[in-house]
Amino acid sequence: MPVSILFVCLGNICRSPLAEGAFRAEAARRGLDAEADSAGTGGWHRGEPPDRRAIAAARRNGVDISGLRARQVTRADFDRFDRILALDAENLADLERLRPPGSRARLSLLLDHVPGREGEAVADPYYGGDRHFDETWRDVAEAARALARELIEEDAA
Ligand code: 4NP
Repeated sequence: MPVSILFVCLGNICRSPLAEGAFRAEAARRGLDAEADSAGTGGWHRGEPPDRRAIAAARRNGVDISGLRARQVTRADFDRFDRILALDAENLADLERLRPPGSRARLSLLLDHVPGREGEAVADPYYGGDRHFDETWRDVAEAARALARELIEEDAA
């Protein structure tokens, strides 16, 4: 059974599509059997592709996220996914409020999986420039590497 991971930010057009893209690339590189998706706590951008600056930042790193489409997280996601990873603390608090009691997914902050970066947020680059999107890429790529390592170790245990 592949492990299933959902990345969640606010709009699902900047940070979580970048996290999904970085994780998919890392999983493919390591031969990890995983399914990934992303969603937003808000629904304003439903059906839209990622922000063009996010698409460009991913492309600079060899990853194509242009085919992704934004959606809002649903209560059903808490039983569809093994793990739900929040990009910042506000996203995590919103997810904790939405979570149906007894649901299966393990919820955590994305950067909690990076040793030494526990509790840190992936900053929202929406009001920033290309430099901020490159920073977002570095954060989510570091998290993707750490998460893949963790999942491979768990699978072997
Ligand atoms: P994201 O960035 O949560 O990383 O996708 C944002 C995108 C859109 C908005 C806020 C944050 N917005 O307010 O529309």
